[in-house]
Formats: sequence, C-alpha cells, structure tokens
Amino acid sequence: DRQKRVRNFSIIAHIDHGKSTLADRLIEKTGLLTEREMKDQILDNMDLERERGITIKLQTTRLIYKAKDGEEYILNLIDTPGHVDFNYEVSRSLAACEGALLVVDAAQGVEAQTLANVYLALEQDLEIIPVINKIDLPSARPEEVKREIEDVIGLDCADAPMISAKEGLNIEDVLESIVKKIPAPTGDINAPLKALIFDSYYDNYKGVITYIRVVEGNIKPGMKIKMMATGKTFEVSEVGIFAPGQVPVKELNAGDVGYVAASIKNVRDARVGDTITDAQNPTEKPLPGYKKVTPMVYCGVYPAEGEDYNNVKDALEKLQVNDAALVFEPETSAALGFGFRCGFLGLLHMEIIQERLEREFNLNIVTTAPSVIYKIMKKDGEMLTIQNPTNLPLVAEIEYMEEPIVEASIMTPTDYVGAVMELCQSRRGTFKNMEYLDQSRVVMHYDLPLNEVIYDFFDALKSKTKGYASFDYELKGYQKSDLVKLDILINKELVDAFSIIVHRDKAYERARSIVEKLKEVIPRHLFAVPIQAAIGSKVIARETIKALRKDVLAKCYGGDVSRKKKLLQKQKEGKKRMRQLGNVEVPQEAFLAVLKFD
Ligand code: GTP
Repeated sequence: DRQKRVRNFSIIAHIDHGKSTLADRLIEKTGLLTEREMKDQILDNMDLERERGITIKLQTTRLIYKAKDGEEYILNLIDTPGHVDFNYEVSRSLAACEGALLVVDAAQGVEAQTLANVYLALEQDLEIIPVINKIDLPSARPEEVKREIEDVIGLDCADAPMISAKEGLNIEDVLESIVKKIPAPTGDINAPLKALIFDSYYDNYKGVITYIRVVEGNIKPGMKIKMMATGKTFEVSEVGIFAPGQVPVKELNAGDVGYVAASIKNVRDARVGDTITDAQNPTEKPLPGYKKVTPMVYCGVYPAEGEDYNNVKDALEKLQVNDAALVFEPETSAALGFGFRCGFLGLLHMEIIQERLEREFNLNIVTTAPSVIYKIMKKDGEMLTIQNPTNLPLVAEIEYMEEPIVEASIMTPTDYVGAVMELCQSRRGTFKNMEYLDQSRVVMHYDLPLNEVIYDFFDALKSKTKGYASFDYELKGYQKSDLVKLDILINKELVDAFSIIVHRDKAYERARSIVEKLKEVIPRHLFAVPIQAAIGSKVIARETIKALRKDVLAKCYGGDVSRKKKLLQKQKEGKKRMRQLGNVEVPQEAFLAVLKFD
C-alpha cells in the first residue's frame, strides 16, 4: 500500500556544509523542476536567509522518486535550520521524520553543530544516513572524514554516499539510501486522527496554516478537528501537500506530511508542538511535545513612532505563532516610552526577529542592549529574577547576584588553540578540558558566563580562528558573580535604555567603549553634549560632543533648487530615525553601538 512508499526525512548539517545545496539537487534529480525554474536555493526562501546564507524558517517539500527497484516513492523533505540558536526548530522538524541525512563537509569534517544535531536526531530515534559532501574540493579528505564520523559519532560510514552537491555528483546514491535505509511510516490509517503540528504561520486569507505530520488516522476538508492542548475546535477548510508550494489534496493519511487550513483566526489556538485530533472521535493521548525551549537573551523592543505600538504588538504575536521560543511582555522606558520586553534564544535569533519586524511588517523599531536573566538575592531574603537592568534593586538592598553560565564546546584546528584560550580567558571563561579528535583538531570545553557570550563572542571566535572554529553551548546553571549596573548619561540625564549589567572587572573597559561609540554616532548639537558612564553616582568614563551647527544647505552654494529639496528630504528621513532624549537627538544606531565590544 501507499504508506510503504513514503519516506519522511530531514537534512542536518553544520552550517555551510551544504544542506541547502543538497536539497536543491534532490529536487532537481527527482524531476520536480527544471534547472531553469530552480532559483538559487529554493528551500531558503526568505530574503533574510539568502542574505545571511542560513536557513531559518522551515520549508518542506515533497519529491517523487522512481527508485532502482522500479517503485515510485514519495519523499517528504523537511528542511531544518542550521544555527546553534535554532536547535529547538531542528528538534521540531525531526519529530515529524523517520530519518535524517547527516551532511558532513569532506574538507571540514565533524564540527560542533554536527554533533549537536546528531544528538537531537538520536533523541527522536531517527535513522541517520551520513553523507560526505564537497568531495570535489581539492582539500577534501573523504576517507579521513568517514573515519572521523565513525570514531566521534559512532555511525557506520561503509555505505555513506560520497557526493558533490555543487556539481551534482552521486546524488542518486543519496536517493537510493533514503529509500533503502529510512523506514516507512507505520501509523494506523484507521485509528482516530493524531497529527503533530511542526510549524505554522499566519495567512491573511486562510488564517493560520499549520504544517502537520499525520501520525495516525486521516484528515480531510469538512472534518471537525480539535487542538488537544487548547481544546479549541475548528472545521478543516483545506488540506494539501508541498509539491513544492501548497497544493490542495483530498485527504492526508497516517504517514503523510502536509498542511491544514481551518479558518483559525487566533494564532494562539494552533501552537507548534500541539496534537490535532478528530473532534468527534478523539484519540486518547496527545503526542509528546517538543523539547522545551527557554529564552536566554532579553531586550527591549520599542516602536520608533509611538503610534506604532499596536502594530508592533500585532507583529510580535504573528511571529510567535511559529516561534515558540519568542516571548514578550509590555514594558515602559523613560527614554523610549511604551514597548515590549522580548526574550530570545540567542543573539542571532534576536537580530532575525528585529529584521523581520522591520522588513516583513514594515515597522521602524528601536531595540535596547540585550541582557541575560540575573538572579538577585536581596538582604530581606527575597530572590528576584531580572531580565531588565533598570529593574535592579538599589545596591544597598542586594545581598548577592548570580549570573547564568553555559557549557561551551569549541571545535578548532590545533593551530588556534592558543587564540581560543586567550579569547575565552578574556571573556571570563573557565577551562574544563580539551579532547583531540585527530592529530589536527581538538574540542575545547569551557564554562562561560552567558553575559559574555551574548555580546560578540561568536564573531570574535570566527575572526580569531579565520572562520575555522565552531561553537555550541548549553545552559549549565547559575553562579554568584560580582556584577554592577553601568548607567549611561547623555547631557546629564540617565538613559534607562542604555543601562547594562556587567562584571565589575569589565565595567571600565565597557564604559570606555560605549562612550566612545556614542560620541561617534550622536550628531553634534547647538550645545555641547556630555556623555558619561557611571556606576551608581560614580562617573567612570566620559566624552563630550562639541557644539556645532551642521548646516547641510551650505554645501549647495545657492543655485540648484531640486538638489536642495532632495537634501532637505533626506535630512527629514534621517530625523525620523532619531530619538529625542531630553533635548538631545540620538540616532537609532546608537542603541546598537553598545552591543559591539571592539
Ligand atoms: P545553512 O543553510 O546556512 O545551514 O547552510 P547549508 O548547510 O545549507 O549550506 P549551503 O548549501 O548554503 O552551502 C554552503 C556553501 O557551500 C555554498 O557556498 C555552496 O555553494 C557550497 N557547497 C555546497 N555543496 C558543495 C559541494 O559539493 N562542493 C563545493 N565545492 N561547494 C559546495
């Protein structure tokens, strides 16, 4: 029967090892699209992804493959993101699969996220097929990498396809392995409906569209369904497959992957991870949910224009539908007005949400410096958790403070061990141990304060190792620490949105770098503007922006009216991106300036 010819799989890989390129080749080889129809990378379809070259949003597609055994197979490929911040999305899509291709770069070998992804796949009991990619590279060392996978991960690589996704070499081997090694789904078609929501998004016309894996039973238009977590019921208006692109079908059966529309208006009613069942004939137990995700980094998100408050709220709600890791609540700032405190998995996640708010929702936003969650023990015995530095109690009330620590594993060629140690030391890291993977590569384990990781640790690591080191981390717990609140005063007024919590030993260095950055980005005013950094009432760094009138029209030497108009217009637009703090105008980029270390 049909189910025997279905294969549901994901591709997992360390970033840049060629996951998207392989996905494209699989689509091409199965004859879905002609080469000309293929955009560069059909699965990564958000602008943002293309620019950053990383996969963020899940994309799913169905391939029809005629195998060497003469049978036609339905291969559902569920794309997964490849960054450390997005492990939760990976586990989400893996839960909908029976198998995964593990793509490893034949020149780079096993890297930090290769391991992290393999562990996630093993947790879901998936059949893992190692695929050695980029064998066309002169620096490829496929045999060594195979041995590395066997030694480090313990996967048998005897039959691993050796491919070049870029040149389309041996792609057929991959397709044959999928058919032969990944088990077909086994759910009972006649049982009550049980389907897993592994992704969803809001469509202006059809309401919330959920991406599902049917585990048991079947689902079709007209059916009354129930969301097991919320108890809400809906009538199915459309079901379909990803061919790619949404193609309606009559029904989806156990083992199938597809989408469901059911005029779901409220994004909260169709949560990713929930189980859909038949309202009339419900299944007994929901499917196990996903690995719980907890935001680790917080920042304030404010509309640049006050009247956009509700639009920002609306946009955050929409983004939250398919991003369980995004949390937010209202907050107010003396400097920025009404906005939201948002929680993210990490810095990249934060940047991506910020950019999506600006691009997809056309919003102009201001964000404050990121913060982790601190624990504060007060002298009166009360324990507070704080994710906004402005909420810190008075120093006199604090008994001690604790900060989150992560266990970091850094994989690097041995040449850079010294550079990595130096970096970790400068970020208050504690060395744990170091293992050799082979003669040329090691994995180093450090405990690092998350507070140090969220600034530019990842960028610094990449630049100190010429891009060769890879990095992964996991929250370990909390640790007492000598922390202080660093405030920034502009023209003698404290700007709450700039306050950060830092280790006492780092305070001076950070203070200097922030006041210098602010001096660069804040334009001159008619009066001198002092910029100060202070701990309590003690100023530890200061710069002054000299008074000057910057007259843009002076450049035009009279004459050309249209040119003058253009300049005035430009200046007006520029103004919109300014924030009035007291009587000082601060450009939005100033709020980002406090993020970068050096
Ligand atoms: P993320 O989406 O960021 O996780 O990356 P990815 O794993 O999808 O990598 P992607 O497919 O975008 O490939 C990364 C880079 O490697 C691109 O520049 C590709 O052109 C290149 N690449 C992929 N496969 C091959 C290959 O077989 N040989 C060579 N030489 N380059 C390849």
